[in-house]
Amino acid sequence: MKRGIVIFVLLATVGCFRDLPKDKPPYKVQTNMFEQPRYETQSESQFFPDHAAMRVPPTGTVARGFLNEDPVYYTGKDDRGQLVARIPLPVTSELMQRGQDRYNIYCTPCHGKLGDGQGMVVKRGLLPPPPYWDPRLLAVPDGHVFDVISNGIRNMPPYKYQIPVSDRWAVVAYFRALQRAHTATINDIPDAERAAMGQGSK
Ligand code: HEC
Repeated sequence: MKRGIVIFVLLATVGCFRDLPKDKPPYKVQTNMFEQPRYETQSESQFFPDHAAMRVPPTGTVARGFLNEDPVYYTGKDDRGQLVARIPLPVTSELMQRGQDRYNIYCTPCHGKLGDGQGMVVKRGLLPPPPYWDPRLLAVPDGHVFDVISNGIRNMPPYKYQIPVSDRWAVVAYFRALQRAHTATINDIPDAERAAMGQGSK
């Protein structure tokens, strides 16, 4: 019984030494697949003629999930490289709400909640972007706005790394809503709503 207790205490304390610094690699009874002959990222190889272990994918191959076949959807340009006039998705109220949500996160710091170009970063010194209702921007195709969000333009950085493609189109829709909000007239409001606003028809 006494010996049993001693052995138990000894075994139990072995665990306490596990995290102490050691010079030697840990002893592994059963290595499973912990150690395998393999290359580390960017390591050297004597096997390949260029001595680089990392290989370029064979020409004509595409990683799974990266086919991006539809140029209009993925670049905002058609197969002749022309910017597309319209968002290539149905513009639903969900898309618009998603656009508003993403816009408020990613664009307001510079462009402001209204798109007037007076975001907080501008108040702290960034060169102000033009308001979205600048006549030139009212006339640009949707593909241009998608391209600006994706790749940036002049002083604006690209957002393709932060914002996935479907969300970029949602932001384009909301960009149009912000423009519309600024340029709308009373005639854009349906008669029924107009009455509720206390303004008879025009
Ligand atoms: C870091 C600040 C910053 C953020 C964030 C930012 N922008 Fe901009 N944006 C700018 C600046 C600055 C310009 C003006 C670029 C110039 O003309 O030098 C600009 C210009 C634009 C233009 C006009 C492009 C043209 O043709 O002149 C559009 C459209 C636009 N931004 C959309 C967006 C949208 C949508 C987002 C959010 C996804 C966004 N921006 C986020 C700074 C920003």
